[in-house]
Amino acid sequence: MRVLFVAAELAPFAKVGGLADVAAGLPPALARLGLDVRVAIPKYRAIGERAQDFASAGTFPVTMGGKDLTCSVSQGIIPASDVPIYFLGHDPYFDRRGIYGEQNEEYPDSLARFAFLSRAALGLGPALGWLPDVIHANDWHTALAPVYLRAGAVDLMSRSVLTIHNLAYQGWFPIDQAAAVGLNEAGRKLVASGRQLNLLRGGIQAADWITTVSPTYAEEILTRGEGLEDALQARRDSLTGILNGIDTSVWDPSTDPHLWAPYSSTDLAGKVVNKRALQEALGLAPTAAPLLGMVSRLAEQKGFDLLLVAFERMMAFGIQFVLLGEGDARYASFFRDAEQRYPGRVRALIEFSEPWAHRIEAGADIFLMPSRFEPAGLNQLYSLRYGAVPVVHATGGLKDTIRECDPVHDRGNGFLFAEYTAEAMLEAVGRAIRLWRTDPEAWRKLVARGMAEDHSWNRPARQYCAVYERVVAR
Ligand code: ADP
Ligand code: GLC
Repeated sequence: MRVLFVAAELAPFAKVGGLADVAAGLPPALARLGLDVRVAIPKYRAIGERAQDFASAGTFPVTMGGKDLTCSVSQGIIPASDVPIYFLGHDPYFDRRGIYGEQNEEYPDSLARFAFLSRAALGLGPALGWLPDVIHANDWHTALAPVYLRAGAVDLMSRSVLTIHNLAYQGWFPIDQAAAVGLNEAGRKLVASGRQLNLLRGGIQAADWITTVSPTYAEEILTRGEGLEDALQARRDSLTGILNGIDTSVWDPSTDPHLWAPYSSTDLAGKVVNKRALQEALGLAPTAAPLLGMVSRLAEQKGFDLLLVAFERMMAFGIQFVLLGEGDARYASFFRDAEQRYPGRVRALIEFSEPWAHRIEAGADIFLMPSRFEPAGLNQLYSLRYGAVPVVHATGGLKDTIRECDPVHDRGNGFLFAEYTAEAMLEAVGRAIRLWRTDPEAWRKLVARGMAEDHSWNRPARQYCAVYERVVAR
C-alpha cells in the first residue's frame, strides 16, 4: 500500500498547531505497519534555510489555470523514522517567514499557495515514478487534492482520504478565482458554496473517505458542523472518527531533553524538581501552591472567553498560573495585564516555544483546557503523560480521552465540566484543587493512572490502515 500524506504543517519543520504533530506522528506509525507511506509539505523559508540537510530530487512542472509553474523537490526524512518527506518548493509562494501569514494577518494569496500544494502533491508521484494508491489530504489547505482527482483534472488512479482536523477553518475564497487554480466545471461544482469557493466543502464532497480526529467530533459535526452539516450528513456513511495519538518518544518525561529532571509514573520525584525549576525560571514564588498550566493557540475555540470571565475567581483558589500561547491580541493583553496584577503568581509567555511547552507540562500540577470545541486535542494527552492532571470541557476529543476522577474507586484521569459556563469550569477546577490539597495519595494515584495510559499512534494507525484498504478495494 503506497500512501502520500499531504499537509500544510509537519513538526518540527513547520508547526502552528496539532496538525503538525499528527503529520509527524501518524506516517511513521503507518510505516511500522508495513505501509509505504511518504509525506509532502511546502518548502517554507525556514526549511529552505536547512537545505544542506536535504537532498535535491529535481523539479517537475505544475500546470494550473493555464500557467506553467515549477515545483522543486527536496527530500528529507521525518526525524527518528525512515519516512521520506518531500518538501515541495515554489519560492514565490513559500519562501516567506510565516506558514499561513504574518502578525496575525493571513497572506492574501492563500488560495494560490495551497492550490499549488494540492496540485503539486498529485504531480509528485508521476514525477518520482512512485504512484500512490491513496492520497491522504488534511484540512482545507489540501482539500483540493481530492477535488482535482474527482474532477478528472489530473491523470491519476489514486483514491483519496480527507482528514478534518478543524471545521472552523474552511478556506473561503471569491468564486472568480476558480479558473486561476485550475478548477474545471466539475471541480467548480464541488467547491462552490453560493457565490464563494469553500475548499473544505469541496474536499468533503470529493474524497473517497473522510475522517476526523475523534469519534465524538465525528458525531458532533453532523449537527454542529459550522455550516457544512448538509455536506457531512450526505457523506455520513463514509465518515469515520479516529482519535489522534501522540508521539510517545517526543513526549516522554523520562527522556525529554527540555526538562530539568527526568521522571516516570513510578518515580515522581523529578516532577517536583521540574515544578520548582519552572517557578524559579519564570519568577513565580517558590511556594507549594497548585500550579495550573496552559499551552494553547490564543483562539476563541480554546475557551478563553470563559477563562477571562472566571480568572479572578480562579486565582482566588490560591493557585499559580502559567500560560504559553500566541494568537489573538485581546487575550495576549489580558494575560500580560494579569501578570502585573498577580506578581509571582501569574506568568504569560506570549510566544511559540517547543521547550517551554514541554517544561510547562512537566512543572504543572493541573492542565486547563476549557475549549469551546475541540476536534481531538493533543495537549490533554501530553498532560496525562506528564502527570499534569487535565481539567477540560466535555467536548469532542476531550470527552473521548478524559474521564472524571473517582478517588474512591481509583478510577478516572482528570476533571470535566459539561456545561460551557464559567461557573461549571470553576467547579471543575475547584474539584481538582480540593483533591490536590486534601488527599495527596489519591492525587498521586490519579497522576500515575494518567501517566500509564497508552495514547501512542499504534491503534489509530491500524484504523487509518483499515480506511485505506477500504477505499482501495472499492
Ligand atoms: P490545535 O491544533 O487546535 O492548536 P492541539 O491540542 O491539537 O490543538 O495541538 C496544539 C499543539 O500545538 C500542541 O503540540 C501544543 O503543545 C502546541 N502549541 C500550541 N501553542 C504553542 C506555543 N505557543 N508554543 C509551543 N507549542 C504550542
Ligand atoms: C486541530 C484541532 C485539534 C486537533 C488537531 C490535530 O487543530 O483543533 O483539536 O488535535 O487539529 O488533529
